[in-house]
Amino acid sequence: MAIFMVVFGVLLMLLTCTALLKWNEVRYRKKGLPPGTMGWPVFGETTEFLKQGPNFMKTQRGRYGNLFKSHILGCPTMVSMDPDLNRYILMNEAKGLVPGYPQSMIDILGKCNIAAVHGSTHKYMRGALLYLISPTMIRDQLLPKIDCFMRTHLNFWDNKIINIQHKTKEMALLSSLKQIATLESSPISEEFMPEFFKLVLGTLSLPIDFPGTNYRQGLQARKNIVSMLRKLIQERRASKEITHQDMLACLMNSQENKYKLSDEEIIDQIITILYSGYETVSTTSMMAVKYLHDHPKVLQELRKEHLEIRERKNPEDPIEWKDLKSMRFTRAVIFETSRLATIVNGVLRKTTKEMELNGFVIPQGWRIYVYTREINYDPYLYPEPLAFNPWRWLDKSLESQNYLFIFGGGSRQCPGKELGIAEISTFLHYFVTRYRWEEVGGDKLMKFPRVEAPNGLHIRVSSYC
Ligand code: HEM
Repeated sequence: MAIFMVVFGVLLMLLTCTALLKWNEVRYRKKGLPPGTMGWPVFGETTEFLKQGPNFMKTQRGRYGNLFKSHILGCPTMVSMDPDLNRYILMNEAKGLVPGYPQSMIDILGKCNIAAVHGSTHKYMRGALLYLISPTMIRDQLLPKIDCFMRTHLNFWDNKIINIQHKTKEMALLSSLKQIATLESSPISEEFMPEFFKLVLGTLSLPIDFPGTNYRQGLQARKNIVSMLRKLIQERRASKEITHQDMLACLMNSQENKYKLSDEEIIDQIITILYSGYETVSTTSMMAVKYLHDHPKVLQELRKEHLEIRERKNPEDPIEWKDLKSMRFTRAVIFETSRLATIVNGVLRKTTKEMELNGFVIPQGWRIYVYTREINYDPYLYPEPLAFNPWRWLDKSLESQNYLFIFGGGSRQCPGKELGIAEISTFLHYFVTRYRWEEVGGDKLMKFPRVEAPNGLHIRVSSYC
């Protein structure tokens, strides 16, 4: 009898599961949709996607081709692994292909955040941002601050075991705070850092507003950050005689800056800059350290470039624009690191109306995952794609080829690209000219959905000289 009950229970469960899967497939069996599977009601195929990562994508592509449907991260989604279509989607926001980032991200980064706005508002916010981080600004205002920050940040690392993941995260945030509001080592930055880390976690969570959830903590962190920034703006307005030279001063200077923003927009613009440059710059820096450790010939070439720059200078002379421009091999190392590690797997869009893409009909409100990871390993673009070979980037045409999506593309192409490269280059300059290092070993690296070392990446550092 007991056996009968167990068998009956298992059969009933199997039947229910099959019925649920079937029901979910039928719900989405609309004419014209791309092929693919939708998984379970509500959860879709999120678990498989997060667990198997790139392999899930490859399996589905093997079954259904470069364009398939799925249900991931709470939304029906069309995944595009077709390089030409990806390019088309990125270049054609105006046709109804707007950013489709998760609700938690929009709620926490603010409604004036660049990813939340479209059309003319996006153009205006982007213009205001580009003004702050233009090549002239980098040369005259930001690079001196970055240099000053990196020198101090990289002090006293010799004879220590350093968690380079932690150090590069701290570096990305504090260096930005210095550029934004000259804040890197003040009490406010101490207060700011833990709130910012909570904000980042919240943006990547399910939007469940219960006490204790990452989402609730992220919303709270946003509130705290907004009130810190509001206080700072008020203090600056009150003390008219003190002049500041930083991004906040530019944003507040409504006489000289042609982009006039409200306080709310200024605050969201600052959060955008902090957020967008944080994980990208820190992870690329950490992975560059990892690859340089594993490829001594590359490290030798990179160090040569930086020692030559140092030889032309006194020890206390900062890195200047012309030095930065001469770092050709360093730039190549940064591009090769971003490619091989795939710091950004893809970008998200959503359809504002029903539309036809490559012969398929995509309903309004569907998310499109413009998955660009695979193009980084295309042997036609990058012979021996799994080799870490920065020399390939010395041929400048590689940086301008049509299928380079490391920094996105179209009207949303990363406006912080050159600033990010300047930060990573200056970090590498002081790192390789001051130190040698070896990995302590045993640290695990995860590649998907984000590149990270779950328990940190520990290196034993000693002086180079
Ligand atoms: C190695 C460093 C970086 C990488 C790999 C990177 C990558 C990207 C990518 C792939 C996008 C496109 C997103 C999309 O299309 O939805 C993007 C957009 C963006 N990035 Fe970066 N980024 C980097 C550094 C920075 C820095 C330092 C800033 C600071 C200002 C920044 C600010 C932005 C902003 C504001 C956007 C949104 C632009 C828009 O929507 O118009 N990024 N970035």
